[in-house]
Amino acid sequence: MEIIIRNEMEADYDQVYEVNLQAFNSEAEPLIVTKLRSSPNVISLVAVVDSQIVGHIIFSPIKVETGFGINSSDVVALGPMSVSPKFQNIKIGSKLVRRGIEECKSKKYKLVVVLGHPNFYPKFGFIEAQPKGITCQWDVSSEAWMLIELIEGITQEIKGKAIYDNAFS
Ligand SMILES: CC(C)(COP(=O)(O)OP(=O)(O)OC[C@H]1O[C@@H](n2cnc3c(N)ncnc32)[C@H](O)[C@@H]1OP(=O)(O)O)[C@@H](O)C(=O)NCCC(=O)NCCS
Repeated sequence: MEIIIRNEMEADYDQVYEVNLQAFNSEAEPLIVTKLRSSPNVISLVAVVDSQIVGHIIFSPIKVETGFGINSSDVVALGPMSVSPKFQNIKIGSKLVRRGIEECKSKKYKLVVVLGHPNFYPKFGFIEAQPKGITCQWDVSSEAWMLIELIEGITQEIKGKAIYDNAFS
């Protein structure tokens, strides 16, 4: 089975909505994705099998409130991400994460945060964010709140509270 990962196009929006709806069994995440697309600089990728969209991942810029002001250009949040239930557990999600991280690097982002399954993201290099000095605007469990440095040691420079795009509120 050939799995193609590519940038999302406008013609994909309806299918992407459907994939998110099926994966999360809720309207909340597909609606977040719809709102996020109007923000500049999101990275949105789809996984395609036999011309059908079966997976999606989106990265959106976030703000980090520091003691000295706001750093708003270097950090993105991963999510929501989704794979159609029938296509789960065959590594499509892993391909989306790996390719997404490469895209974030090529766009010169320095850090990616994620609020997600603690048994899924560490294999890509994500570690707990709180011990590195990045906290979350929401009250979250420490294992689920993770980050990956795209520039080694960047969390020595960027520290503070992560504030997601308004689409998440
Ligand atoms: C999470 C998700 C994107 C993974 O996609 P996938 O294509 O199935 O991922 P892969 O095949 O690459 O890897 C599967 C891994 O995800 C883990 N996983 C899948 N669903 C999970 C869940 N609900 N909770 C925790 N882990 C989960 C599996 O345990 C498996 O781990 P392994 O590689 O150690 O065996 C997909 O299962 C999904 O869309 N789930 C529903 C929506 C969701 O929870 N999105 C992520 C929010 S953080």
